[in-house]
Amino acid sequence: MTAQLIDGNALSRQLRDNVRERVLTLRARGVVPGLAVVLVGDNPASQVYVRNKVKACEDTGMHSVLEQYPADMTEADLLARVTALNNDPSIHGILVQLPLPAHINAQRVIETISPAKDVDGFHVGSAGALMVGQPGFWPCTPYGCMKMLESIGYNLRGKHAVVIGRSNIVGKPMALMLLQQNATVTICHSATPDLKAMTLQADVIVAAVGKRNVLTADMVKPGAVVLDVGMNRTEEGKLCGDVDFADVKEVAGYITPVPGGVGPMTITMLMVNTLASAEHMLAA
Ligand code: GUN
Repeated sequence: MTAQLIDGNALSRQLRDNVRERVLTLRARGVVPGLAVVLVGDNPASQVYVRNKVKACEDTGMHSVLEQYPADMTEADLLARVTALNNDPSIHGILVQLPLPAHINAQRVIETISPAKDVDGFHVGSAGALMVGQPGFWPCTPYGCMKMLESIGYNLRGKHAVVIGRSNIVGKPMALMLLQQNATVTICHSATPDLKAMTLQADVIVAAVGKRNVLTADMVKPGAVVLDVGMNRTEEGKLCGDVDFADVKEVAGYITPVPGGVGPMTITMLMVNTLASAEHMLAA
């Protein structure tokens, strides 16, 4: 059996077409959705990510500002910038790129972002809203994974979903979203004694560890849906995920590739969240 690919690029294009149309509607009413992207330091991967986020804004007709600061920026200065952006009516979403330099308390910075502009969904208020099923911004990567499941018409009710990884950005919110759709959810992590025993029971597997070949073909039930959140490099420098794609695709029913899977969806959901923020502020 060969799995069907869930194409993150194609789904992103479709979702961005919808975003573009809704941006035009807002523009006709005098509102241009705006995203502020704040980068501190010169992490090369972060520089690529923030550039792609700004490009996505251009692609969807949104306004964006990229604020870049040196690695020795003080926490107080960064908090002041975030507060200024909270008060800037042209900005509907604020994203502070992580990781931040070690001398800055990232959680304190995130908690300073207004929950109304927290389009990353990392604020404790956003996390709490997701937990209790109230409206709020969902973190973009797990949100994108849910859209991928929706795109194949997958009904999670009564299904067993196994999430590998427990980060605040992906694993934990992913588990809550799957639970909200009535899946039975297991969260596995580095202290899980027998990962394979868990994944073999799964109808849906989300691999979000950040390590190559965490999920191999012998760990996958035939026909399972496999979502690969990983972003790693092979020894040859080629981009790859957490899943042994070549072998797992022969067992799984559906699988997301890397690149071209979850990655583009993350940025697209950031656009969706920023647009939703602007729509919400206009309606308020
Ligand atoms: N660093 C890696 N992924 C992300 C993300 O989704 N948002 C932010 N702000 N930083 C990140």
